[in-house]
Amino acid sequence: MVSQRAADVTPFIAMDVLERANELDDVIHLEVGEPDFAPPDRVIETAVDSLRAGHTTYTAARGKPELRRAIAAHYDREYGVDIDPDRVVVTPGTSPGLFLAMAALVDPGDEVVLTDPHYACYPNFVRVVDGEVRTVTLRASEGFRPRVDDFAAAVGPDTSALLCNSPANPTGAVMDGETLAGLAEVAADADATPVVDEVYHGLSYDAAEHTMLEYTDDAFVLNGFSKRFAMTGWRLGWVIVPPDYVDAVNRLAQNVLICAPNFVQDAGVAALETPPDRLDEIRETYRERRDLLVDAVEGWGLDLGYTPQGAYYLLADVSDLPGDALDVADLFLEAGVAVTPGVDFGDAASDYLRFSYATDADAIETAIERIDALLATVER
Ligand SMILES: Cc1ncc(COP(=O)(O)O)c(C=O)c1O
Repeated sequence: MVSQRAADVTPFIAMDVLERANELDDVIHLEVGEPDFAPPDRVIETAVDSLRAGHTTYTAARGKPELRRAIAAHYDREYGVDIDPDRVVVTPGTSPGLFLAMAALVDPGDEVVLTDPHYACYPNFVRVVDGEVRTVTLRASEGFRPRVDDFAAAVGPDTSALLCNSPANPTGAVMDGETLAGLAEVAADADATPVVDEVYHGLSYDAAEHTMLEYTDDAFVLNGFSKRFAMTGWRLGWVIVPPDYVDAVNRLAQNVLICAPNFVQDAGVAALETPPDRLDEIRETYRERRDLLVDAVEGWGLDLGYTPQGAYYLLADVSDLPGDALDVADLFLEAGVAVTPGVDFGDAASDYLRFSYATDADAIETAIERIDALLATVER
């Protein structure tokens, strides 16, 4: 019989939409969070050379020392933070890193506080370790940026972790240093641990990026190569682990993951050496797409209410259109544009649709024309 734990896991609706969209001809995909760029050439060459050199065996569970040193150097270069490579655990993507963090922190019945809206998979990560989800509601009028006070009010004696991400999926909100420092303090006061998913770092448009590690060592910080380096299918990420948890996380990784693919770890070292101007160019391309889509959403008379500052998403309120957000998503799909209904991201997002701009500008322009034409026929 399927366990209660597995039965409680909800589907990832964006993936369901993708499946339905793939059955139709000529659909523009604004539902998926998958970069349309290729990884840097040197990353591909390094992976091929590494394969040919026979780097196909297991590695240490926590990752190859060269990559762990390169990740530590990345924190020094980007944020001026000194991280001991012993605290770096390499994982097959950010998602397994999140699982390690939850498994290391949460006992059955412990609470994990997250934002609403939140990344669709977060509550399920909490459920699979038998934790309880508590949420703090974000407001579009505040750019969906979390209030430290709301977290302070939500934590309690059973809270073991505060889980958030910046730049955020699905909102594109970016947390400033003051908020991160405040969350670190709230967590410390509650004897809880921040878990901060920084997988969209490198994709911020009008905001300075800070890592939680600037404010505390007592945090799990997750990151990976999927977004900044467009390496979704390579499956490579990492966790920076608080010193007291290094041994436990390593044991979990040894048992549950074995290791991240050997040759992909070599490619990860090459990715971290990507010249900054190449990354700047990609970021600029995303910024232009964001501006295009923000203007279009406002042109449709939908209430955006904020400017998303990072990642490649925006969340638009569609409650002025007939039907609920699921109906509107269906209408858009019939018009040839796939988007994700907000309900995937929490109750507070149920009147919203998430648009991803990880698609080229020409396709976004066509999607805008299709929705323009559709909305011209809809009575409001
Ligand atoms: C906030 C967030 N965290 C993690 C992931 C998964 O990243 P990875 O491919 O590194 O497992 C995603 C993917 O969309 C995401 O949006």
